[in-house]
Amino acid sequence: MRSILLSLLGAVGSCLAQTNVNSYVASESAFAKAGLLANIGPSGSKSSGADPGIVIASPSTTNPDYLYTWVRDSSLVFKVLIDQYTTGADTSLRTLIDEFVSAEAILQQVTNPSGSVTTGGLGEPKFNIDETAFTGSWGRPQRDGPALRSTAIITYANWLLDNGNTSYVTQTLWPVLELDLNYVMNNWNQSTYDLWEEIDSSSFWTTAVQHRALRQGSALATRIGQTSVVSGYNTQAGYLLCFLQSYWNPSGNYVTANTGGGRSGIDANTVLTSIHTFDPSAGCDATTFQPCSDKALANLKVYVDSFRSIYSVNSGIASNAAVATGRYPEDVYMGGNPWYLATMAAAEQLYDALSVWGSQGSLTLAHMPRLAQRSPV
Ligand SMILES: *[C@@H]1O[C@H](CO)[C@@H](O)[C@H](O)[C@H]1NC(C)=O
Ligand SMILES: *[C@@H]1O[C@H](CO)[C@@H](O)[C@H](O)[C@H]1NC(C)=O
Repeated sequence: MRSILLSLLGAVGSCLAQTNVNSYVASESAFAKAGLLANIGPSGSKSSGADPGIVIASPSTTNPDYLYTWVRDSSLVFKVLIDQYTTGADTSLRTLIDEFVSAEAILQQVTNPSGSVTTGGLGEPKFNIDETAFTGSWGRPQRDGPALRSTAIITYANWLLDNGNTSYVTQTLWPVLELDLNYVMNNWNQSTYDLWEEIDSSSFWTTAVQHRALRQGSALATRIGQTSVVSGYNTQAGYLLCFLQSYWNPSGNYVTANTGGGRSGIDANTVLTSIHTFDPSAGCDATTFQPCSDKALANLKVYVDSFRSIYSVNSGIASNAAVATGRYPEDVYMGGNPWYLATMAAAEQLYDALSVWGSQGSLTLAHMPRLAQRSPV
């Protein structure tokens, strides 16, 4: 059965969809990368005034005013660039990556409305692009920042170790990483604003990225002999993984994105979590909500279906066909519209799931009752 489906997909794909997707990816990748680099100081064409290694959210200064740097966004941007550098896809990025690390090391020490470096300041979500504190009112703290920053930098650290540059890792990167990882270890069990910066509660996204950071941090610490932190990171990572299970809504068959806020909890940030913590070697593990796990797929279906009737762009589209999705069904920000980022995340989860399904040969769908009755293809 499976080989029939795959050959059908292959046959259709090779003459139609795949050709279009491949040519789109080829042209769009270069275009998107140039846009991304344009938003990084000091010489990005859209980022004048930003210090070296500082990623701006947008050049826009009115409606919305987004000419600031967010720790979350910057870390996700540099996660991509560090992946491209360490896999050899783009060897020109080294200077930019070193500038990012230096900029983040400066921001860590900037006392801000969330505190100083030792009193909670690492949870501050955004700064001015000249590396000073943003002192206006905001949804703070946001405790995913230090976790995402460490995940990005740890990949760079491991590559440097593989290439014999241990001193830069132990002397320059580890002090930055240890501050962030200790912050995660010591503060994960306090409430946080979610990644949409709207709700102060527990956040599935934040819990998951904190879990990932402590696991990776523990492995790096072991590798460079920083053994004193290892058992603390491992213990708290275990608690985080346990806590992560509590976001599952067993009657609705989806993940509750935020424990507060009075919404359904159906939210793109759960889909973003699944693709951000995707690990092909973890198979379809449901405890980490891998893209092909029954829980993450059931969640994806509930999430996508929630936008079928609320966006006019989706009207008339068959119930088993793809639709445009947004952040969450109750969203009213800027009119609460579909968003490319959310729709692409849904597609990426399916892509990740198909890729693991293909390599392991089966999927178990216990949380998708109607589908589970079908024999796996
Ligand atoms: C180690 O990496 C840093 C950061 O890129 C660089 O400045 C330094 O020259 C490297 N050291 C060696 C010995 O390659
Ligand atoms: C802290 O952890 C406990 C035990 O997992 C959990 O019940 C509680 O909701 C957590 N609170 C926050 C804010 O993370």
